[in-house]
Amino acid sequence: MKGRTDIVIGVQWGDEGKGRVVDVLAADAGVVVRYQGGANAGHTVVVDNEKYVFHLLPSGILYTGKSCVIGNGVVIDPDTLFEELDGLAARGKKTAKLVVSHAAHIVMPYHKIIDKLAEGARSEGTKIGTTGRGIGPCYADKYERIGIRAEDLVNPDVLRDKLSRTLKIKNDILTKIYGADPLDFDEIYEKALAWGRRMEPMLGDAFLEIDEAVRGGRNVLFEGAQATLLDIDHGTYPFVTSSSPCAGGACTGSGFGPSRIDRSIGVAKAYCTRVGEGPFPTEEMGEVGEELRQKGGEFGATTGRPRRCGWCDLVAVDYAVKVNGLDGLALTKLDVLDGFDEIKICTAYEIDGKIRKTFPSSCAELAKAKPVYATLPGWKCDISKCRTFDELPQAARDYVKYIEDNAEVPVVLIGVGAGREDTIRRGL
Ligand code: GDP
Ligand code: IMO
Ligand code: MG
Repeated sequence: MKGRTDIVIGVQWGDEGKGRVVDVLAADAGVVVRYQGGANAGHTVVVDNEKYVFHLLPSGILYTGKSCVIGNGVVIDPDTLFEELDGLAARGKKTAKLVVSHAAHIVMPYHKIIDKLAEGARSEGTKIGTTGRGIGPCYADKYERIGIRAEDLVNPDVLRDKLSRTLKIKNDILTKIYGADPLDFDEIYEKALAWGRRMEPMLGDAFLEIDEAVRGGRNVLFEGAQATLLDIDHGTYPFVTSSSPCAGGACTGSGFGPSRIDRSIGVAKAYCTRVGEGPFPTEEMGEVGEELRQKGGEFGATTGRPRRCGWCDLVAVDYAVKVNGLDGLALTKLDVLDGFDEIKICTAYEIDGKIRKTFPSSCAELAKAKPVYATLPGWKCDISKCRTFDELPQAARDYVKYIEDNAEVPVVLIGVGAGREDTIRRGL
């Protein structure tokens, strides 16, 4: 019998709780695959009151006896990868088998430096608010076809040739455009060879690991990083990341054909957050935003930056349903809304005096959008111990149903706390 394949995708602007959803679903999976992004991601998993934050490791890594795959679509900062593995070892944790695609690109020291210099050089209003992890410059090199791939780290001659050609260009950019110091070839070359020595046993044909698992009856989870509205094509460009978090990215980023995907599950917070710059129609700048930030602990898992907070945006949810072909939603952090007297939810936008219910693909249009809200009653009680949908108070059930009715897809999982067990599963 064939294994089941699910993609888990962020619906909003990231940090929806993809890591915790993957951790819950991974119990029934054989393989967990990261297919895009890099160490810009911060995926939090809480097991037995212990907190783990993964940047590059798939969130299934805590399950021994399973496999985790870092696919060709990911950009890898080897220092971060090894730090994460060493961190788990230092905590005495055994981990899943890890397979890294030969074709994954490597974030080189110059990518991180140029990321920060480019961001610093952008004027107010054009800043993106990147994580500074070298993501954009690394993907730019991939598409320019001058990137260093994981396989190059274990081929010293190829690495020498590629790196010497690329570093010449990068040093021109560093010195002539940014007035910064040039980088030393030998230092980077030696560092990259050392990365290769440690990474060699992990390198493999990642697509085969996935293919064989599915054929052998094991379920596979594709773990998206970032989210729909940060997608390079479908997000709020240019305030986006440089990869394809949307469902299609799971196929290109892993070498797994679309006809073999069974379900796409979108992860949405019960409200909404964004870190970094760019339009955010339901953003609450005052007390409500502050209350959501404090109650939700909305500070970045990667950079520690305070996240911008606001009400749930059903126009954006509808967009994510369509762009990804979502089969269901995982609604996280419902418990964060426990104390509110009433809860607003955006059902449409007003743009230039006209009401529209669909998300504009023009970022300039979106920047003008004013939210049109429905107001629902709060439930004003602690829901963190609820484990079934029926145990939730009526107002909380009504809020979930309101989202389902508008999104036209079922809410298949609800988060009522950060822990693995703080989960209501409804058919997933
Ligand atoms: P990701 O990047 O999508 O994996 O999300 P992050 O880990 O960056 O941010 C989600 C945060 O919310 C983390 O601190 C999680 O521990 C926490 N979290 C996830 N689900 C829930 C939930 O249902 N309730 C509460 N209170 N916290 C949650
Ligand atoms: P996870 O997987 C939230 C945002 C940055 C910035 C923009 C571009 O934890 O949900 P980049 O460094 O990628 O070039 O930055 O994207 N961003 C994220 N925001 N969660 C993330 O990942 C993010 N990864 C990138 O803040 O606005
Ligand atoms: Mg995160």
